[in-house]
Amino acid sequence: MIENRKSDHVAIASERDVNSHYNYWDDIQLIHNAMPEINYDEISTETYFYRRNLKYPIIIESMTGGFSQGKVINENIAKVASELQIGMGVGSQRILLKKKELTDTFSVIKEYDIPLRIANIGAPQLIEQHREKAVTDDDLYYIMNVLDAHFIDIHFNFLQEVVQPEGDKKAKGIEMRLKEICSKFPVIAKETGAGFDYNTGMRLKRAGVMAIDVSGVSGTSFAAVEHYRAKELNDRVRERLGLTYWDWGIPSPYSVMTLNNIGLKIISSGGIRNGLDVAKSIVIGADLAGIAGHALRFAREGYRPLLEEMQTIVEELKAAMFLTGSKSIESLRTKKYLVSGRLKDWLEYK
Ligand SMILES: Cc1cc2nc3c(=O)[nH]c(=O)nc-3n(C[C@H](O)[C@H](O)[C@H](O)COP(=O)(O)O)c2cc1C
Repeated sequence: MIENRKSDHVAIASERDVNSHYNYWDDIQLIHNAMPEINYDEISTETYFYRRNLKYPIIIESMTGGFSQGKVINENIAKVASELQIGMGVGSQRILLKKKELTDTFSVIKEYDIPLRIANIGAPQLIEQHREKAVTDDDLYYIMNVLDAHFIDIHFNFLQEVVQPEGDKKAKGIEMRLKEICSKFPVIAKETGAGFDYNTGMRLKRAGVMAIDVSGVSGTSFAAVEHYRAKELNDRVRERLGLTYWDWGIPSPYSVMTLNNIGLKIISSGGIRNGLDVAKSIVIGADLAGIAGHALRFAREGYRPLLEEMQTIVEELKAAMFLTGSKSIESLRTKKYLVSGRLKDWLEYK
């Protein structure tokens, strides 16, 4: 069932329009500098995420593994991540705890020199669910070792769980277990398209996470993905829930702006489509920008289409740096920006 679910998600997300109806990145404008006083060729996009050194402040986000096409996609992403020296996550490794024979669909990425490798498990798996036991520390060591991972994403996906026909809807006790896990593992708390607000960010900080990957509203909507799956499964109630909650959540740039000075590293994701969105992410206070849905379509086509798209994205990032007079990522962080539209409404919420 899980295996089918993952291949359904990959197919639906790359063949249908499952984006939220509003992309909040369009509500941010960077300010043009007509006399930048820097040379384009001397721009440095290099950055650090803790001690990991990346050539660009970009990761390709957690998406897949656990089935044969998932292995091909992970390998295509891994080759590109190694070529460009950017970070990479894999999809939920929950399936490995039952089917060790699928290990290579994830571990394939170990064959490439990727500067930031991120393991992945769902927050619902931290506690016992109806049909499944909670993950143990040994399980977490195992899934990290499969990738030789530098960090582990614990993904919060309750919007998806509530819409999905077979969703895990128990959430009591996660915070306490997260605290224990954070004392032993380098954890990144990650959403999957519905974002984090300030209060949740502070609770995550108190639990001891090292970073927050906001994955907010603007791009892939898991309510939309599950809407289409429920439709295929003839589950009328879930089909309707998916429609109603299509745009539910906290906008990605709002999440970044509210969490950017709580003392944690912030990954900006959810709706990043190009290098200008990456530049906006850095300007509003993120450390890295993460791309999922947009990269998936290219990754499915092959290594070369994904490489060409990611090379275009880094050129777009450099163009934004040049046109704002930023010769380094540090300098880009200090630039001013203008906020309009619905994002401005969100910023009035305290
Ligand atoms: C097909 C697909 C599968 C995904 N699977 C996972 C997953 O297993 N674990 C996870 O943390 N996030 C998963 N995500 C969520 C992404 O990592 C990301 O948080 C979300 O899609 C928002 O980014 P985007 O708008 O760039 O797509 C998945 C996304 C897609 C499109």
